[in-house]
Amino acid sequence: MAQRRAPIFKHERLRQRLHGPMMRRHWLLVGACGWVLLILMFVSKFINFSIRMPDDYGGRAVVLNWTSTSLKSEKPLIQLSQNPASQPYAASSGSPTQVELSDWESVTVQRLQLLSSICRNSSLRNLTHTALRKFVLDRIFVCDKHRILFCQTPKVGNTQWKKVLIVLNGKFSKVEDIPENVVHDHERNGLPRLSSMSDAEVAERLNTYFKFFIVRDPFERLISAFKDKFMENPRFEPWYKHSIAPAIIRKYRKNHRDASGSAGLHFEDFVRYLGDESGRKHLDRQFGEHVIHWLTYAELCAPCDISYDVIGHHETLEQDAPYILKAAGIEDLVSYPSIPKGITRYNRTKVERYFSGISKRDIRRLYACYQGDFSLFGYHRPDFLLD
Ligand SMILES: *[C@@H]1O[C@H](CO)[C@@H](O)[C@H](O)[C@H]1NC(C)=O
Ligand SMILES: *[C@@H]1O[C@H](CO)[C@@H](O)[C@H](O)[C@H]1NC(C)=O
Ligand SMILES: *[C@@H]1O[C@H](CO)[C@@H](O)[C@H](O)[C@H]1NC(C)=O
Ligand SMILES: *[C@@H]1O[C@H](CO)[C@@H](O)[C@H](O)[C@H]1NC(C)=O
Repeated sequence: MAQRRAPIFKHERLRQRLHGPMMRRHWLLVGACGWVLLILMFVSKFINFSIRMPDDYGGRAVVLNWTSTSLKSEKPLIQLSQNPASQPYAASSGSPTQVELSDWESVTVQRLQLLSSICRNSSLRNLTHTALRKFVLDRIFVCDKHRILFCQTPKVGNTQWKKVLIVLNGKFSKVEDIPENVVHDHERNGLPRLSSMSDAEVAERLNTYFKFFIVRDPFERLISAFKDKFMENPRFEPWYKHSIAPAIIRKYRKNHRDASGSAGLHFEDFVRYLGDESGRKHLDRQFGEHVIHWLTYAELCAPCDISYDVIGHHETLEQDAPYILKAAGIEDLVSYPSIPKGITRYNRTKVERYFSGISKRDIRRLYACYQGDFSLFGYHRPDFLLD
């Protein structure tokens, strides 16, 4: 398995990737792909990728518009507040100024520095470190053509990133050609998982590829998972309501007389289940892969054991998405769709509403289990729920 490099190398490598001699090879690659795109554009006049993403933004169906940019496109401009590093939640509030994308680099470097300092904190070790077993390698998707690894984290718009990588891998020529049922079908989408490769291939990719994933406020993420899987019950996933919810209710509902015939899982049951660190292990084994919707980011992506180049935040996706495309060297091949306004913003009212009526004891237990994610990614402790 790959060894962890010291953080300084990580940042150096990213810098090289962005500015160094690596760039020349990148530009050749980008140029070649650009020609292919230009030919495609010639054929179809203009490539417009329009996709529907039913569950990535809180269950609402949103039509997004992917427009391929031309090779000679202007440098993307981003909006950010005057002091982005100290206001991770509110990058688009305050007085926005137009800033070159390269300025976002310092924000992402600070995030990585915070991460590595938390990774070294031994009292949080159980909540931050994860063995690089198959489960983690299953979460990571590979784009060999552009040397990119992407760790999938639910509820942060990962479907679009997967579509981008599928197109870059060449199985489909545009995002709109990818049928919805193929995006997550890894037999057919041409997007291999890292777990499908040999140990040597895994190590080589972990050591040399550009690696990223996206996170969001841990409690908002749990609310989003709860809504999506247990309230709205999307698409063809009956098992959440028919097997997982009843199992959680049986074990965690306070008043068992409510357990039969009541209207499904309550957020309170869900919180009690998630906060039962040791007791839930047995259930989690039964639930299998479905637990990816509420396992911690540390468990899913092993951020202390894999040296990621960029960790994007859903709350600042407007800045992070173009930055990631640039850092990965693919910004001239694809652009991130316009993000519906306000949809990524942290909504404290919503969090308060979901947790109202749930005992402080249960919320504190929940926080104890997710404290690693709060600390690793710089999310503030939600004092308003815990004190
Ligand atoms: C996508 O964007 C293009 C130009 O930006 C616009 O003409 C087109 O109508 C949009 N398509 C959809 C489906 O919104
Ligand atoms: C490690 O984390 C704990 C819990 O958050 C904190 O109290 C402690 O100050 C941290 N230690 C260091 C050295 O940062
Ligand atoms: C970490 O986990 C191990 C085994 O699960 C346990 O024995 C140990 O007390 C835990 N350490 C902390 C700091 O929670
Ligand atoms: C925040 O959440 C509340 C409650 O769900 C909702 O009524 C409100 O519209 C949301 N605010 C924003 C800015 O989305």
